[in-house]
This record gives sequence, structure tokens and C-alpha cells, in this order.
Amino acid sequence: MHLYKYEKIWLLLGGGTLVIFLFLVGIQAFAMGMAPPSHQETIDPNKVDHTAPFNKPGLKQIGENEYELVMVAQAFAYSPGNIEIPKGATVHFIVTSKDVVHGFQIAGTNVNMMITPGHISRITHTFSETGSFLVLCNEYCGVGHQAMGTTIEVM
Ligand code: CUA
Repeated sequence: MHLYKYEKIWLLLGGGTLVIFLFLVGIQAFAMGMAPPSHQETIDPNKVDHTAPFNKPGLKQIGENEYELVMVAQAFAYSPGNIEIPKGATVHFIVTSKDVVHGFQIAGTNVNMMITPGHISRITHTFSETGSFLVLCNEYCGVGHQAMGTTIEVM
């Protein structure tokens, strides 16, 4: 089989890119231990109201300008909603669902979680600027999905 010069160059480029990519992914996975979050924190979705910390949802101060926010997602709302936090606060979100899969995205930030019934999702964010942040559900969860959202006011 005859290969033209440019075919050889493009084959080398394509193959080389693939080899480099797989090599880097291998280093990340095996040498640096990078992997998707694998913690499995489970909860009985039928007993959310009676299981700590979800028996007392809400904002709790745990340090100087550091808070824990326990939230329950269910069709089609977050409880509690309309949270107010001070500027600069670091918030540890702890969220679960009572019914189906919901999303938990805070627009304009990197906070974006899938909220799965039976599991507890955690993420931490520091709100360094004041403003009104929209929390929205980005997983289709039923007829009221598009109305599922709330706000976080950073004062
Ligand atoms: Cu909850 Cu979409």
C-alpha cells in the first residue's frame, strides 16, 4: 500500500495525539489518583425527614463566616428556599432528594450537583461577592421542573 507524504503526516499527528492523550489520562488516573467522586453516602429516601441532618434542614453557622446548609430537594422545590448569607461566607451544601433525581446548580458559580434519591451530595462554595444567586434544577424531574428553583442572597 502506498501512502502519500501528507497522509503519513496526518496519520502520525492523529495517532501521536491519541497516544499522548491516553498517556496523560493514565498518569492522572493511576499516578495522581484523579477519579470521579466516589464517596457513597446513602440515606433511605423514605425517611429523609427523620434522618439527621435532614430532620433539621437549614443554615447552621459552624465557624467564622462558615456555614453548613442542609437542603432537601423534592418535586418541585428546595427546602428551605430563599437563603440569606453574609458576603465572604463559605457554605458547605449537604443535599438529598425525597423523590426523583433533581439538579442543584447555582448560576454563575461552579456549583453543579446531581441530587439522587438515596444519596447525599456535598459541595462547598465561598461567596466572595454580594448579589442574588439563582439556584436551579437542571435535571428533568416532572411537569414542574422548569419552575424548580430558589435564590441565595449574599448580603
Ligand atoms: Cu427538580 Cu427538575
